[in-house]
Amino acid sequence: MVPPDSAVSPLSHARWWRAGVVQAVSPPGVLDLGPGYLEPSLLPVDEVYPLYAEALAEYGPAALTYGANAGAQPLRALLAARHGCAPEEIMVTAGTSQALTLLCTVLGRPGQAVVVERTCYDLGRRIMTDHGLHLREVDADGEGVRPEALDRALSHGDDVAFVYLTPTFHNPTGTVAGESRRLELLAVAARHGVRIVEDDAYTELGLDRTAPPPSLAALAGRRGVIRLGSFAKTLGPGLRLGWLEADPDLVETMTDRGQLVSGGALNHLTSLAVAMLMGDGRYDRRLSWLRAQLRLRRDTLVAALRAGMGESVTFDCPAGGFFVWLTFEHPRRSESSLLASAGRAGVAVAPGSRFGSVAGTHLRLAYSLNSPDGLAAAAARLAAAWRNEETLR
Ligand SMILES: Cc1ncc(COP(=O)(O)O)c(C=O)c1O
Repeated sequence: MVPPDSAVSPLSHARWWRAGVVQAVSPPGVLDLGPGYLEPSLLPVDEVYPLYAEALAEYGPAALTYGANAGAQPLRALLAARHGCAPEEIMVTAGTSQALTLLCTVLGRPGQAVVVERTCYDLGRRIMTDHGLHLREVDADGEGVRPEALDRALSHGDDVAFVYLTPTFHNPTGTVAGESRRLELLAVAARHGVRIVEDDAYTELGLDRTAPPPSLAALAGRRGVIRLGSFAKTLGPGLRLGWLEADPDLVETMTDRGQLVSGGALNHLTSLAVAMLMGDGRYDRRLSWLRAQLRLRRDTLVAALRAGMGESVTFDCPAGGFFVWLTFEHPRRSESSLLASAGRAGVAVAPGSRFGSVAGTHLRLAYSLNSPDGLAAAAARLAAAWRNEETLR
């Protein structure tokens, strides 16, 4: 039973933001389609609440000691079974951001390049540049990075730390690389002897009948590919729990770092708690429910955009993840004026330029942080604001 004062309401975030508990909150009165967060009512407070008690009952003081460096075996075993690899190929992390940080220090040296898609996860870019790595952007199409572009980027003859890709439900574009595209990208990277880091934060959130193709890591048997997984988008980012899949030698190298030898697993009790959820079907039931909720939100937003927007805006309906990527066909529609008129209409959206040196004008809309009614209202406001702007021009 969850105590009554932890009941979830959108306002609970504002209160806890003022109290210095949460990182960010939407401005009051604004329909916020900016960040890729789950709406508070989609965060599983009731499901997570008993898990810590269950883990403590099962493991006693072992749940409060330093955990095994690579992460608690029960969670590693469950993740391995789910993703078709061996437990030795799994390392528990404190989420994708921490895993990427670790990889930048283990695989990279300041001054080296990371090859990235021209448009990709803004904070992933930031983590890599924070480590003195510079980003070499390559062109993409409707399936993500183009193999010829990757080949060219790897042919400079200089030092590349790794290639960073998001082939499934890409942030921000929502694209999915098909299996043959994946095989081509793997072949190019293997030919150049460069590792791929596959950021797979959204894979479990497919919203259509067709499942996405196997991960790059699965296709490569984890040779030359490190896949990053996270519970941030399926359960909640506050758990700070994720994992990476890599060949066992690399897992061993990474778990032999001073930080882990000194401090043990990065998130021991939470790993044991989440293993309770995954071990008996509750996680899968949660995912089915969450997918249905996200599908409803995606369909509502897409339908409202289609009904309200003129032909000057194009977008594909994403097959999964959190985002719709808008493209403005009219060359004179600037990102700043679109953002400003959205803001005046009480809607926040993410500027496309945040995600790299994007050609043309784009905005990203997240359907994860609002109710279906909120999304329909936001789309209507955007359509009116942008139509108005067009007629004023
Ligand atoms: C592509 C991608 N990778 C990683 C993350 C962050 O993951 P985590 O919360 O596990 O650090 C996000 C969150 O927005 C994301 O969109």
